Amino acid sequence: MKLIPLASPNITNIAIDSVVSVLRSGMLVQGKFTNQLENDICSYLNVSHCAAVSSGTASLQLALISLGVKPGDEVIVPALSYVATANVVELVGAVPVFVDVKQDFTIDVLLIEEKITDKTKVIMPVHEFGIAADMDAILNIAERHNLWVLEDAACALGSKYKEKYCGTLGDFGSFSLHPRKAITSGEGGLVVTNNAVFDKKIRTLRNHGIEPEVQPMEFSEAGFNYRLTDFQSALVLDQLTSLDNIIAKRNDLAAIYYQELKSNHFKLPVIPDYASSNWQTFQIILESEKTRNSLKDHLLRNKIQSNYGAQCITEVKFFKNKYQLDSLNEFPNALEAYNQGLAIPLYEKLTEENINHILNCINNFF
Ligand SMILES: Cc1ncc(COP(=O)(O)O)c(C=O)c1O
Repeated sequence: MKLIPLASPNITNIAIDSVVSVLRSGMLVQGKFTNQLENDICSYLNVSHCAAVSSGTASLQLALISLGVKPGDEVIVPALSYVATANVVELVGAVPVFVDVKQDFTIDVLLIEEKITDKTKVIMPVHEFGIAADMDAILNIAERHNLWVLEDAACALGSKYKEKYCGTLGDFGSFSLHPRKAITSGEGGLVVTNNAVFDKKIRTLRNHGIEPEVQPMEFSEAGFNYRLTDFQSALVLDQLTSLDNIIAKRNDLAAIYYQELKSNHFKLPVIPDYASSNWQTFQIILESEKTRNSLKDHLLRNKIQSNYGAQCITEVKFFKNKYQLDSLNEFPNALEAYNQGLAIPLYEKLTEENINHILNCINNFF
């Protein structure tokens, strides 16, 4: 039996042909395919503006700069996420203020207000693993305290909070197109907003400070080169047309996991009523770190790849050294997810045989 990878991108022949045609055209930088991707994302998500950029990290960074976050400001982030969420706050000179997560891996809204100070500028909820954060509560807190909301929806393209897509409720939504995500351009990111001024700022910053549609061309501020190339956009465009099918298939597979994976030795992911997940990651929480590590080894011996999910960021070397926070007492849920969590394969290409093998291996382990 071949290894069952943790994730596997859905690259069709149509997508490959489309990328090849862009390569043959010689038009390799950002161009009409990237424009098309931006328009298609706006239609899919029902937002006014989308700028495609070179990664999900770049999109977060540009959003923070566009919101005017500067050295000394504070940004509220969940303690559990991929480290990029906090890195970008550091990289604009601001301070990440960590808040523990709930059992569903998203920021605990009951703990946010006690962390707000007169330096707080932004709340940055993460729709972790594709599971929506409690956006009504977050938007309510943000409004009362006059804060911006930047949704880190890196994992959550196609996930919903109530009837709306994750990433479309705050001032900005940021997505990643890394191959671990539901659809991919290799590396890539998307910034969406309903605010035309913010969108213009993002487009200027991603392209060396050149204001879009201004003639003669001006370098009006110091910018980056965070553009997404046309062949990357061509790759992702075809997958976008299948996104709803991808999510539907993942939903079916997740339902099988919920039905068949039953044990006192682990917890299955908790999805709140208001959330519908795109199942970017299916993460279980084992009873201890030791059991988690042994299960991971056991799965690999049986040719199933699994991996640790997100980080408890306050335990990552840089943040641990810099802030010296007591994760065990302050962020127990994030720490549990970090030390005891295991992401197992869940994606549309898994066959019935694959699923049965995964189920048998996990159930037989205990
Ligand atoms: C929650 C979260 N934020 C940000 C990122 C960064 O995205 P990228 O890898 O595209 O830079 C990731 C990537 O996995 C992520 O999971």
